[in-house]
Amino acid sequence: MGIKIIGTGSYAPEKILTNHDLEKIVDTSDEWIRTRTGISERHIAAPDEAASDMATHACRNAMEMAGVSPDEVDLIILATISGDKPFPSTACFLQRKLEAFNATCFDIQAACSGFIYGIEVAEAMISKQDSKYRRALVLGVEKITYLTNWEDRNTCVLFGDGAGAVVVEKSEEGNSGSRVLGSALFSNGTYTDILDVPAGGSAKPIDEEVLANKEQFIQMEGKEVFKLAVNAMVGACKEVLDKASVTSKDIRWLIPHQANKRIISAVGKRLDLTEKNVYINVDKYGNTSAASVAIALDELVRSGQVERDELILLTAFGAGLTWGAALLRW
Ligand code: COA
Repeated sequence: MGIKIIGTGSYAPEKILTNHDLEKIVDTSDEWIRTRTGISERHIAAPDEAASDMATHACRNAMEMAGVSPDEVDLIILATISGDKPFPSTACFLQRKLEAFNATCFDIQAACSGFIYGIEVAEAMISKQDSKYRRALVLGVEKITYLTNWEDRNTCVLFGDGAGAVVVEKSEEGNSGSRVLGSALFSNGTYTDILDVPAGGSAKPIDEEVLANKEQFIQMEGKEVFKLAVNAMVGACKEVLDKASVTSKDIRWLIPHQANKRIISAVGKRLDLTEKNVYINVDKYGNTSAASVAIALDELVRSGQVERDELILLTAFGAGLTWGAALLRW
Protein backbone atom coordinates (compact mmCIF):
# COMPACT_ATOMS: atom_id res chain seq x y z
CA MET A 1 0.00 0.00 0.00
CA GLY A 2 1.24 3.49 -0.74
CA ILE A 3 0.28 6.85 -2.20
CA LYS A 4 0.58 8.49 -5.59
CA ILE A 5 0.40 12.10 -6.73
CA ILE A 6 -2.61 12.67 -8.99
CA GLY A 7 -2.48 16.46 -9.36
CA THR A 8 -0.15 19.41 -8.84
CA GLY A 9 -0.79 23.15 -8.56
CA SER A 10 1.00 26.33 -7.67
CA TYR A 11 0.50 30.04 -7.27
CA ALA A 12 2.76 33.06 -7.15
CA PRO A 13 1.50 36.54 -6.26
CA GLU A 14 1.24 39.12 -9.02
CA LYS A 15 3.79 41.60 -7.71
CA ILE A 16 7.39 40.93 -8.80
CA LEU A 17 10.35 42.47 -6.98
CA THR A 18 13.50 42.42 -9.12
CA ASN A 19 17.11 42.67 -7.99
CA HIS A 20 17.16 46.14 -9.51
CA ASP A 21 14.20 47.09 -7.29
CA LEU A 22 16.21 45.84 -4.29
CA GLU A 23 19.16 48.01 -5.28
CA LYS A 24 16.95 50.96 -4.37
CA ILE A 25 16.12 49.53 -0.92
CA VAL A 26 19.44 48.18 0.42
CA ASP A 27 23.14 48.41 -0.45
CA THR A 28 23.26 45.53 -2.94
CA SER A 29 23.53 44.90 -6.66
CA ASP A 30 21.86 42.71 -9.23
CA GLU A 31 25.30 41.28 -10.00
CA TRP A 32 26.00 40.33 -6.34
CA ILE A 33 22.62 38.66 -5.89
CA ARG A 34 22.77 36.73 -9.16
CA THR A 35 26.32 35.46 -8.72
CA ARG A 36 25.91 34.50 -5.02
CA THR A 37 22.39 33.07 -5.19
CA GLY A 38 21.15 32.70 -8.80
CA ILE A 39 18.08 34.80 -7.93
CA SER A 40 16.88 37.51 -10.36
CA GLU A 41 13.41 38.22 -9.02
CA ARG A 42 10.84 37.06 -6.51
CA HIS A 43 7.07 37.40 -6.02
CA ILE A 44 5.67 39.41 -3.11
CA ALA A 45 2.18 38.85 -1.70
CA ALA A 46 -0.17 41.83 -1.49
CA PRO A 47 -0.63 43.30 2.01
CA ASP A 48 -4.16 41.86 2.25
CA GLU A 49 -3.18 38.48 0.71
CA ALA A 50 -2.83 35.82 3.43
CA ALA A 51 -1.04 32.49 3.21
CA SER A 52 -4.42 30.73 2.99
CA ASP A 53 -5.38 32.87 -0.03
CA MET A 54 -2.28 31.78 -1.93
CA ALA A 55 -2.82 28.21 -0.79
CA THR A 56 -6.40 28.29 -2.10
CA HIS A 57 -5.22 29.12 -5.64
CA ALA A 58 -2.54 26.41 -5.61
CA CYS A 59 -4.92 23.77 -4.24
CA ARG A 60 -7.68 24.59 -6.74
CA ASN A 61 -5.15 24.12 -9.56
CA ALA A 62 -4.01 20.80 -8.13
CA MET A 63 -7.59 19.56 -7.58
CA GLU A 64 -8.53 20.56 -11.11
CA MET A 65 -5.64 18.54 -12.56
CA ALA A 66 -6.58 15.59 -10.34
CA GLY A 67 -10.29 15.84 -11.18
CA VAL A 68 -11.08 15.91 -7.48
CA SER A 69 -13.81 18.05 -5.91
CA PRO A 70 -13.39 19.73 -2.50
CA ASP A 71 -15.73 17.26 -0.77
CA GLU A 72 -13.55 14.35 -1.98
CA VAL A 73 -10.52 15.63 -0.03
CA ASP A 74 -10.35 13.98 3.39
CA LEU A 75 -7.03 15.31 4.67
CA ILE A 76 -5.27 18.69 4.38
CA ILE A 77 -1.64 18.84 5.49
CA LEU A 78 -0.28 22.37 5.16
CA ALA A 79 3.38 23.24 5.71
CA THR A 80 4.26 26.84 6.56
CA ILE A 81 6.26 29.13 8.80
CA SER A 82 4.21 32.18 7.84
CA GLY A 83 0.62 31.13 8.40
CA ASP A 84 -2.41 33.40 8.63
CA LYS A 85 -2.39 33.58 12.46
CA PRO A 86 -0.51 31.90 15.36
CA PHE A 87 -3.68 29.81 15.64
CA PRO A 88 -5.95 28.30 14.40
CA SER A 89 -4.08 26.39 11.76
CA THR A 90 -3.82 27.86 8.28
CA ALA A 91 -5.10 24.48 7.07
CA CYS A 92 -8.44 25.31 8.71
CA PHE A 93 -8.62 28.70 6.99
CA LEU A 94 -7.83 26.92 3.73
CA GLN A 95 -10.52 24.32 4.39
CA ARG A 96 -13.11 27.07 4.74
CA LYS A 97 -11.99 28.82 1.54
CA LEU A 98 -12.00 25.56 -0.45
CA GLU A 99 -15.21 24.33 1.21
CA ALA A 100 -13.45 21.02 1.77
CA PHE A 101 -15.50 20.26 4.84
CA ASN A 102 -14.89 16.50 4.86
CA ALA A 103 -11.18 17.02 5.48
CA THR A 104 -9.18 16.65 8.68
CA CYS A 105 -6.84 19.66 8.68
CA PHE A 106 -3.59 20.57 10.35
CA ASP A 107 -0.37 22.49 9.81
CA ILE A 108 3.14 21.18 10.05
CA GLN A 109 6.17 23.32 10.73
CA ALA A 110 9.47 22.08 9.37
CA ALA A 111 10.51 25.35 7.69
CA CYS A 112 11.80 24.80 4.14
CA SER A 113 11.53 21.00 4.50
CA GLY A 114 7.82 21.19 5.35
CA PHE A 115 6.44 19.94 2.05
CA ILE A 116 8.61 16.80 2.09
CA TYR A 117 7.65 16.22 5.73
CA GLY A 118 4.03 16.53 4.57
CA ILE A 119 4.46 13.84 1.92
CA GLU A 120 5.76 11.33 4.48
CA VAL A 121 3.04 12.22 6.99
CA ALA A 122 0.35 11.81 4.30
CA GLU A 123 1.76 8.46 3.25
CA ALA A 124 1.82 7.23 6.86
CA MET A 125 -1.77 8.34 7.50
CA ILE A 126 -3.23 7.07 4.23
CA SER A 127 -1.31 3.77 4.09
CA LYS A 128 -2.03 2.57 7.60
CA GLN A 129 -4.33 -0.37 7.81
CA ASP A 130 -8.04 0.56 7.95
CA SER A 131 -7.17 4.21 7.37
CA LYS A 132 -10.20 6.40 6.88
CA TYR A 133 -8.14 8.66 4.60
CA ARG A 134 -7.93 8.11 0.85
CA ARG A 135 -7.12 11.48 -0.63
CA ALA A 136 -5.08 14.39 0.74
CA LEU A 137 -3.99 17.85 -0.20
CA VAL A 138 -0.34 18.29 0.79
CA LEU A 139 1.01 21.76 0.35
CA GLY A 140 3.64 24.31 1.22
CA VAL A 141 2.76 27.98 1.38
CA GLU A 142 4.67 31.03 2.51
CA LYS A 143 4.09 34.72 2.92
CA ILE A 144 7.65 34.78 4.16
CA THR A 145 8.23 38.38 3.11
CA TYR A 146 6.25 39.50 6.17
CA LEU A 147 9.05 37.96 8.26
CA THR A 148 11.71 39.73 6.17
CA ASN A 149 13.80 42.61 7.48
CA TRP A 150 13.93 44.91 4.45
CA GLU A 151 16.93 46.71 5.98
CA ASP A 152 19.05 43.53 6.18
CA ARG A 153 20.76 42.87 2.85
CA ASN A 154 22.05 39.51 4.14
CA THR A 155 18.53 38.09 4.11
CA CYS A 156 16.02 40.33 2.30
CA VAL A 157 17.39 39.50 -1.16
CA LEU A 158 16.82 35.77 -0.65
CA PHE A 159 13.12 35.19 -0.04
CA GLY A 160 9.84 35.24 -1.96
CA ASP A 161 6.17 34.32 -1.48
CA GLY A 162 4.11 31.56 -3.09
CA ALA A 163 2.29 28.26 -2.73
CA GLY A 164 2.62 24.76 -4.17
CA ALA A 165 0.27 21.83 -3.68
CA VAL A 166 -0.29 18.21 -4.64
CA VAL A 167 -3.29 15.92 -4.39
CA VAL A 168 -2.23 12.47 -3.25
CA GLU A 169 -4.35 9.36 -3.28
CA LYS A 170 -4.09 5.84 -1.96
CA SER A 171 -2.32 3.75 -4.61
CA GLU A 172 -3.97 0.43 -5.41
CA GLU A 173 -1.43 -0.56 -8.03
CA GLY A 174 0.92 -2.54 -5.79
CA ASN A 175 4.53 -1.95 -6.70
CA SER A 176 3.96 -0.82 -10.27
CA GLY A 177 2.66 2.51 -11.53
CA SER A 178 2.88 5.97 -10.12
CA ARG A 179 3.71 6.16 -6.40
CA VAL A 180 5.90 7.57 -3.66
CA LEU A 181 8.68 4.99 -3.49
CA GLY A 182 10.25 6.18 -0.28
CA SER A 183 11.23 9.10 1.90
CA ALA A 184 13.53 10.00 4.76
CA LEU A 185 13.29 12.88 7.22
CA PHE A 186 15.89 14.26 9.62
CA SER A 187 16.24 17.01 12.24
CA ASN A 188 19.05 18.45 14.34
CA GLY A 189 18.02 20.90 17.04
CA THR A 190 21.65 21.73 17.84
CA TYR A 191 21.44 24.37 15.14
CA THR A 192 18.17 26.11 16.07
CA ASP A 193 19.93 29.48 16.29
CA ILE A 194 21.66 29.74 12.91
CA LEU A 195 18.43 30.42 11.02
CA ASP A 196 15.43 31.67 12.94
CA VAL A 197 13.03 34.44 13.86
CA PRO A 198 14.38 35.27 17.33
CA ALA A 199 11.18 36.75 18.79
CA GLY A 200 7.42 36.63 18.54
CA GLY A 201 6.90 33.27 20.26
CA SER A 202 6.56 32.28 23.92
CA ALA A 203 10.33 32.30 24.47
CA LYS A 204 10.52 35.97 23.60
CA PRO A 205 7.20 37.76 23.09
CA ILE A 206 7.21 40.94 21.07
CA ASP A 207 7.92 44.08 23.09
CA GLU A 208 9.47 47.44 22.36
CA GLU A 209 13.03 46.12 22.66
CA VAL A 210 12.29 43.31 20.21
CA LEU A 211 10.86 45.77 17.71
CA ALA A 212 13.82 48.13 18.16
CA ASN A 213 16.25 45.27 17.47
CA LYS A 214 14.10 43.91 14.63
CA GLU A 215 14.09 40.48 16.27
CA GLN A 216 10.64 39.75 14.83
CA PHE A 217 12.35 39.12 11.48
CA ILE A 218 14.46 36.32 9.98
CA GLN A 219 18.12 36.24 10.97
CA MET A 220 20.62 33.82 9.49
CA GLU A 221 24.26 32.78 9.53
CA GLY A 222 24.39 32.29 5.77
CA LYS A 223 27.78 30.64 5.41
CA GLU A 224 27.10 28.07 8.13
CA VAL A 225 23.70 27.24 6.63
CA PHE A 226 25.25 26.85 3.19
CA LYS A 227 27.81 24.28 4.37
CA LEU A 228 25.31 22.19 6.30
CA ALA A 229 22.67 22.29 3.54
CA VAL A 230 24.72 20.54 0.87
CA ASN A 231 25.87 17.62 3.05
CA ALA A 232 22.43 17.16 4.56
CA MET A 233 20.53 17.01 1.27
CA VAL A 234 23.10 14.73 -0.36
CA GLY A 235 22.94 12.36 2.63
CA ALA A 236 19.13 12.26 2.60
CA CYS A 237 19.03 11.61 -1.15
CA LYS A 238 21.54 8.77 -0.90
CA GLU A 239 19.58 7.13 1.89
CA VAL A 240 16.34 7.24 -0.08
CA LEU A 241 18.00 5.95 -3.25
CA ASP A 242 19.69 3.11 -1.38
CA LYS A 243 16.47 2.07 0.33
CA ALA A 244 14.67 1.96 -3.03
CA SER A 245 17.60 0.04 -4.60
CA VAL A 246 18.13 2.63 -7.34
CA THR A 247 21.11 4.87 -8.15
CA SER A 248 21.27 8.52 -9.13
CA LYS A 249 21.73 7.36 -12.73
CA ASP A 250 18.10 6.20 -12.64
CA ILE A 251 16.85 9.66 -11.66
CA ARG A 252 15.24 11.74 -14.41
CA TRP A 253 14.79 14.82 -12.22
CA LEU A 254 16.23 16.08 -8.98
CA ILE A 255 14.07 18.83 -7.50
CA PRO A 256 16.03 20.38 -4.65
CA HIS A 257 14.75 23.10 -2.34
CA GLN A 258 15.23 26.33 -4.28
CA ALA A 259 17.30 28.42 -1.84
CA ASN A 260 20.46 29.14 -3.77
CA LYS A 261 21.69 28.04 -7.19
CA ARG A 262 25.17 27.28 -5.86
CA ILE A 263 23.72 24.94 -3.20
CA ILE A 264 21.53 23.27 -5.83
CA SER A 265 24.44 22.77 -8.24
CA ALA A 266 26.66 21.39 -5.48
CA VAL A 267 23.99 18.84 -4.50
CA GLY A 268 23.51 17.82 -8.15
CA LYS A 269 27.25 17.38 -8.66
CA ARG A 270 27.72 15.36 -5.48
CA LEU A 271 24.97 13.02 -6.70
CA ASP A 272 26.66 12.68 -10.12
CA LEU A 273 23.75 14.30 -11.91
CA THR A 274 24.13 16.47 -14.98
CA GLU A 275 22.56 19.92 -15.26
CA LYS A 276 19.77 18.59 -17.45
CA ASN A 277 18.61 16.39 -14.56
CA VAL A 278 18.40 19.16 -11.97
CA TYR A 279 15.37 21.44 -11.93
CA ILE A 280 16.07 25.08 -11.09
CA ASN A 281 13.60 27.95 -10.86
CA VAL A 282 15.14 29.91 -7.96
CA ASP A 283 15.93 32.68 -10.45
CA LYS A 284 12.21 33.54 -10.72
CA TYR A 285 10.96 32.90 -7.18
CA GLY A 286 13.82 33.23 -4.69
CA ASN A 287 13.53 31.01 -1.64
CA THR A 288 9.82 30.34 -1.01
CA SER A 289 10.63 28.05 1.95
CA ALA A 290 8.03 25.28 2.36
CA ALA A 291 6.49 26.12 -1.03
CA SER A 292 9.62 25.83 -3.14
CA VAL A 293 9.77 22.11 -3.97
CA ALA A 294 6.02 21.93 -4.63
CA ILE A 295 6.09 24.97 -6.94
CA ALA A 296 9.01 23.47 -8.87
CA LEU A 297 7.26 20.09 -9.15
CA ASP A 298 4.13 21.75 -10.52
CA GLU A 299 6.14 23.76 -13.08
CA LEU A 300 7.95 20.64 -14.19
CA VAL A 301 4.76 18.63 -14.59
CA ARG A 302 2.82 21.38 -16.38
CA SER A 303 5.68 22.07 -18.80
CA GLY A 304 5.44 18.44 -19.96
CA GLN A 305 9.05 17.63 -19.02
CA VAL A 306 8.26 14.48 -17.08
CA GLU A 307 6.98 11.19 -18.50
CA ARG A 308 5.10 8.38 -16.82
CA ASP A 309 7.33 6.00 -14.83
CA GLU A 310 10.25 8.44 -14.65
CA LEU A 311 11.85 8.88 -11.23
CA ILE A 312 11.80 12.25 -9.48
CA LEU A 313 13.87 12.86 -6.37
CA LEU A 314 12.74 15.70 -4.08
CA THR A 315 15.03 17.06 -1.40
CA ALA A 316 14.91 19.99 1.01
CA PHE A 317 16.72 21.59 3.87
CA GLY A 318 15.66 24.25 6.33
CA ALA A 319 15.66 25.86 9.72
CA GLY A 320 15.55 23.59 12.73
CA LEU A 321 17.58 22.14 11.24
CA THR A 322 15.30 19.90 9.23
CA TRP A 323 16.00 18.07 6.01
CA GLY A 324 14.83 15.14 3.96
CA ALA A 325 14.19 13.55 0.59
CA ALA A 326 11.37 11.73 -1.17
CA LEU A 327 11.50 9.55 -4.27
CA LEU A 328 8.56 9.50 -6.68
CA ARG A 329 7.81 7.28 -9.64
CA TRP A 330 5.73 9.55 -11.86
N1 COA B 1 24.54 42.49 -1.43
C1 COA B 1 25.83 42.83 -1.35
N2 COA B 1 26.65 42.35 -0.40
C2 COA B 1 26.12 41.52 0.49
C3 COA B 1 24.78 41.12 0.46
C4 COA B 1 23.98 41.66 -0.56
N3 COA B 1 22.69 41.35 -0.66
N4 COA B 1 24.55 40.27 1.47
C5 COA B 1 25.69 40.12 2.12
N5 COA B 1 26.65 40.87 1.54
C6 COA B 1 28.01 41.02 1.95
C7 COA B 1 28.20 40.73 3.43
O1 COA B 1 27.96 41.90 4.18
C8 COA B 1 29.63 40.31 3.48
O2 COA B 1 30.44 41.46 3.45
P1 COA B 1 31.77 41.56 4.35
O3 COA B 1 32.63 40.43 3.88
O4 COA B 1 32.29 42.90 4.03
O5 COA B 1 31.29 41.37 5.74
C9 COA B 1 29.80 39.58 2.18
O6 COA B 1 28.79 40.04 1.29
C10 COA B 1 29.59 38.10 2.35
O7 COA B 1 30.07 37.56 1.20
P2 COA B 1 30.30 36.03 1.13
O8 COA B 1 30.80 35.54 2.45
O9 COA B 1 31.17 35.75 -0.04
O10 COA B 1 28.84 35.54 0.88
P3 COA B 1 28.43 34.08 0.57
O11 COA B 1 29.16 33.58 -0.62
O12 COA B 1 28.46 33.25 1.80
O13 COA B 1 26.93 34.27 0.15
C11 COA B 1 24.74 33.89 1.01
C12 COA B 1 26.01 34.72 1.11
C13 COA B 1 23.75 34.33 2.06
C14 COA B 1 24.13 34.10 -0.38
C15 COA B 1 25.13 32.41 1.18
O14 COA B 1 25.89 32.24 2.35
C16 COA B 1 23.94 31.51 1.24
O15 COA B 1 23.21 31.36 0.26
N6 COA B 1 23.72 30.80 2.36
C17 COA B 1 22.62 29.92 2.50
C18 COA B 1 21.39 30.71 2.67
C19 COA B 1 20.15 29.86 2.57
O16 COA B 1 20.01 29.15 1.62
N7 COA B 1 19.28 29.98 3.54
C20 COA B 1 18.05 29.32 3.57
C21 COA B 1 18.22 27.87 3.82
S1 COA B 1 16.70 27.11 3.82
